[in-house]
Amino acid sequence: MGYKDVFSACKADPEKFWLEAADAIDWVKKPTRALHAENAPLYEWFKDSEVNTCWNAVDRHVEAGRGDQDAIIYDSPVTDTKARITFSELKVQVAALAGALAEKGVTKGDRVIIYMPMVPEAITAMLACARIGAVHSVVFGGFAANELAVRIDDATPKAILAGSCGIEPGRVVEYKPLLDEAISLADHKPEFCIILQRSQCLASLVDGRDFDWTAITSTAKPVDCIPVSGTHPAYILYTSGTTGAPKGVVRPTAGHIVALNWTMKNIYNVDPGEVFWAASDVGWVVGHSYICYGPLIHGNTTIVFEGKPVGTPDAGTFWRVMQDYDVKTFFTAPTAFRAIKREDPKGLLIKDYDLSGLRALFLAGERADPDTILWAQDQLGVPVIDHWWQTETGYPAAANPLGIEAMPVKIGSPSVAMPGYDIQVLDDGGHPLPAGELGAIAAKLPLPPGTLPTLWNAEDRFVKSYLTTFPGYYETGDAGYIDDDGYLYIMARTDDVINVAGHRLSTGAMEEVLAGHPDVAECAVIGATDTLKGQLPLGFICTNTGTDRTNEDIVADCVARVREQIGPVAAFKHAVVVDRLPKTRSGKILRGIMVKIADSQDYKMPATIDDPAILDEIKAALKTIGYASH
Ligand code: COA
Ligand code: AMP
Repeated sequence: MGYKDVFSACKADPEKFWLEAADAIDWVKKPTRALHAENAPLYEWFKDSEVNTCWNAVDRHVEAGRGDQDAIIYDSPVTDTKARITFSELKVQVAALAGALAEKGVTKGDRVIIYMPMVPEAITAMLACARIGAVHSVVFGGFAANELAVRIDDATPKAILAGSCGIEPGRVVEYKPLLDEAISLADHKPEFCIILQRSQCLASLVDGRDFDWTAITSTAKPVDCIPVSGTHPAYILYTSGTTGAPKGVVRPTAGHIVALNWTMKNIYNVDPGEVFWAASDVGWVVGHSYICYGPLIHGNTTIVFEGKPVGTPDAGTFWRVMQDYDVKTFFTAPTAFRAIKREDPKGLLIKDYDLSGLRALFLAGERADPDTILWAQDQLGVPVIDHWWQTETGYPAAANPLGIEAMPVKIGSPSVAMPGYDIQVLDDGGHPLPAGELGAIAAKLPLPPGTLPTLWNAEDRFVKSYLTTFPGYYETGDAGYIDDDGYLYIMARTDDVINVAGHRLSTGAMEEVLAGHPDVAECAVIGATDTLKGQLPLGFICTNTGTDRTNEDIVADCVARVREQIGPVAAFKHAVVVDRLPKTRSGKILRGIMVKIADSQDYKMPATIDDPAILDEIKAALKTIGYASH
């Protein structure tokens, strides 16, 4: 069957399609139905099933004779370490950590925060939670203590699992002081922490609260997988929305296992036993789905890579990893390829490696610009597949399904909707637009299995954020169009979310931080185009009258505040002081125009603007920091 047949079969009979996909999973209690629509527009999948994710990702492969296959390959150029962990070894490690958590009182439904760098123990931690039905919430290491505290208060974890440090090129990032600060900032206090001591930096442990990972797991009694209901939350992953408060995306257990397993062959075209590599971070959804769960559930070997595409030690590091471990399918963000291309535009380093095993490169997380795609195609000689998805969906909503049928690639498009996704482009009134017309991208409800059923502790926010603007649809927050052949084009966000080096960030959250500065009267943050990172945040600050501090000092304070309160990953480095912000007569800040000015693009003067002269002032201010230059 080709793509169109598979897509139509799923549309015509989703029950049959997803129950068949569910046959590839080991169930404790097999689902009798796929979709449960009695609470529409809130939908649930495989509600009457019982299953365990860790069993499907680890134990069943050992039982099936894959025990000696590598489950995880760890390659860390920043610590000069390499290691291989077989499925049998992974089972022992996961069962021990799960045992340690259980002995300390963690039971089904308890939350556990994981704050760890890219080491195999981060995967062990996720799987150990899944083994006992604990709900993990991984927090990306590049966030500051304050962001961690916000997540602690929302998820109210019984335990926190953390590494003593992460390694960024040229510096060791001590996680433990950040963790201690976060716990002291948060109202909720975890009962205990388990700390993985890394030799690069030994953390001091708080007596009675913090336990050493190695010590506690070496004495713990291993535990087996326990069954959970199909709709049990597998994890919570916080992502940026319009305001400073992150959204806790909930992942339902059974749908997650079924859908991820389906994508591994049908989209990524790998067979069990082959090596699949997603160069991302466990803190992001790509890391959850395609470093941890997807490959392991499907019986693939996954790679935990602790390094950067460039500088660790050079722009050939990705090629070395692909060659050394015979990677079949590789997945990363376009920004990583832009970084490599900038260092090695002629691809000279690629020629040093044998990449004959590689079958395809998948890109996602941000718009894949044509130059990068063409360069990657030329250099690697394999299909370069742009595909589109979100933390909320958990796996691709639009892609080129190489395992079903390699569709013609259209550069600039993440190709076509995946089975289960009825993607439409809507006008402001929620009416479907004809092919080629730009509008809001929405997916007709229900979404397929594994997608978010709700937000943690925030059902109202879930309904308001995603289901209200276009009744009967899920609002993606992206804008774009679909062409005559059904190919999707993602053009922009419709909200205040920006995408910096593949990291999803909220300009609203940054504005909240700037507004907290005592000398800031008003502010705006926009995402300006950046040739490496796709977008970079750029701040506009109006200061209070009567301050005796210089504009330079206030800007420097603001840059430091965003780094301290959100984290280095926000990459907030530029801001200008202006007398006033451009607004409509009703007082709405015209951020879209500010982006166009910063990017030196043409713009139409908005009819509603309060005072057109202000745009020249903005332009002049931007010129002083190297923007709006032509
Ligand atoms: N822990 C602590 N700090 C971190 C961190 C982590 N896990 N990850 C990033 N940071 C810090 C970096 O050290 C940097 O700090 P600096 O301001 O002191 O230099 C800052 O956060 C920004 O990091 P990053 O966005 O990674 O920029 P970079 O300049 O270090 O590297 C790229 C640029 C393009 C090489 C890098 O962004 C990259 O590899 N991107 C791929 C993105 C990706 O995998 N996205 C996931 C979605 S698929
Ligand atoms: P995240 O939830 O961090 O995965 O970010 C999801 C957002 O990233 C989407 O809503 C898009 O705005 C953007 N995005 C992801 N993949 C693509 C893609 N292939 N092309 C364009 N934008 C993308």
